[in-house]
Amino acid sequence: MSAKKKALVYRCSSCGHSEPKWLGRCPECGQWNTLRETALAQARAERGGETFPLPIASIETGKETRIPTGSAEMDRVLGGGIMRGSVVLLGGEPGIGKSTLLLQVLARAATKGRLLYISGEESPAQIKLRAERLGCVRDGLEVFCSGDLGLVRAALDAVRPTVAVVDSIQTLRADEAGAVPGTANQIKYCAMELTSWAKEHDSAIILVAHVTKEGIIAGPKAAEHLVDAVLGFEQGDGDMRVLRASKNRFGSAEEVGLYRMGETGLEEVSDASGLFLVRREDGMPAGAAVAPVHEGSRILLVEIQALTVPAKAGLTRVYSERIDAARVSRIAAVLEKHTGARFSDQDIYVNVAGGIRLTEPGVDLALACALYSARSGVALPKDVVLAGELSLAGEVRPVRQMRRRAKAAAALGFSTLVGPPGETEARRSDRGSEAGAEWKGVRTIKEALKAVFGARVHEAEKD
Ligand code: TYD
Ligand code: MG
Repeated sequence: MSAKKKALVYRCSSCGHSEPKWLGRCPECGQWNTLRETALAQARAERGGETFPLPIASIETGKETRIPTGSAEMDRVLGGGIMRGSVVLLGGEPGIGKSTLLLQVLARAATKGRLLYISGEESPAQIKLRAERLGCVRDGLEVFCSGDLGLVRAALDAVRPTVAVVDSIQTLRADEAGAVPGTANQIKYCAMELTSWAKEHDSAIILVAHVTKEGIIAGPKAAEHLVDAVLGFEQGDGDMRVLRASKNRFGSAEEVGLYRMGETGLEEVSDASGLFLVRREDGMPAGAAVAPVHEGSRILLVEIQALTVPAKAGLTRVYSERIDAARVSRIAAVLEKHTGARFSDQDIYVNVAGGIRLTEPGVDLALACALYSARSGVALPKDVVLAGELSLAGEVRPVRQMRRRAKAAAALGFSTLVGPPGETEARRSDRGSEAGAEWKGVRTIKEALKAVFGARVHEAEKD
């Protein structure tokens, strides 16, 4: 019965605009008594043929309607602002700053339309106090506190916001989906209802999801395939926060947004290239290596730190949160096989300065050098950075954006980039000083170690 009811809209016989509820006057063209009950399928067919297959060339794409969020980092991660009619899931640990971020997004979003912050976690007064402290009180921003999906939908219908935030999906409850909020069933049902509301009204909805450290709560995972974009808000060292997309129907899923949690909420970090470097007066300590990593559209220089200690009782472990531990084990195995450095009786600790999580394959070579340096006690020269993927056979594989990596390295005072062989000597010298750090091509891990440690490789191998 309810399915039948839902499939109706009220369509203006004068301008074709449709409304979910009957109104005396069409809000689009202003005519009175023109809204007629129409089957949704028919309204759609008349509007754009959504219920019929269409020749691909005849499909109208319309203009891209994105709403800038007022946060360059958020826009970067979303691919240029919030898409109208889209649903975004923002996950993160409790206390990481999701509510803060989204209140700021609503307060700064570039739209004249209405904005709605729906909370099932805080009271209107709490939200008002926070908004005042953050400078987020603006015209057009409304607050509704409820965990009842029916009431939330009614509020959406009443406000018809351009952008709405639902904080959080775990506190929403629909009578149709069982009594307890937060179950996978509830989350899926509520996310589905809100998604179809957003699509029908061309409004954007951002859903907040609490995710624990393990990140595998059944609920929010179940909603991921329903939404257009999935963002994660992650903790870096101290006040650093990293915003990352793991799915994005309207943009790249590789971009990274960087923030700092400060006194007045989240501040953007725009010049981030040197943020994850450790500045030292004298040389590098053993175990540290610098890599220019390609994260989304920018290059960040990061210091990778490794420590090896003899394992107790013959049981070895890898402790690495910022780089996948399986990758650390693989690189240690490649080193052991191809350079003779022994890791199989060692516990290995790996960290990344600044606490950023690295997934790019291009960090392999720097990770290998950090491990080798930790194991041998021989430090890297302080003006060298490394980029390249390592194969199991010990070959250095190409990675993209080498020239940009070389430039970013030079801008932060590094003179040499060791990586996969690239352009010929002739082409490299053509570009002169504009080329950035000197790019030393190496084909194997052995060659890389020789290029980095020079004669000291043998010194290390004697140990
Ligand atoms: P919050 O946005 O409530 O996190 P979430 O919604 O992800 O649970 O942020 C909570 C933390 O942020 C809280 O520990 C206090 C801190 N914080 C600041 O340091 N500065 C601020 O201006 C605000 C609003 C919060
Ligand atoms: Mg919150």
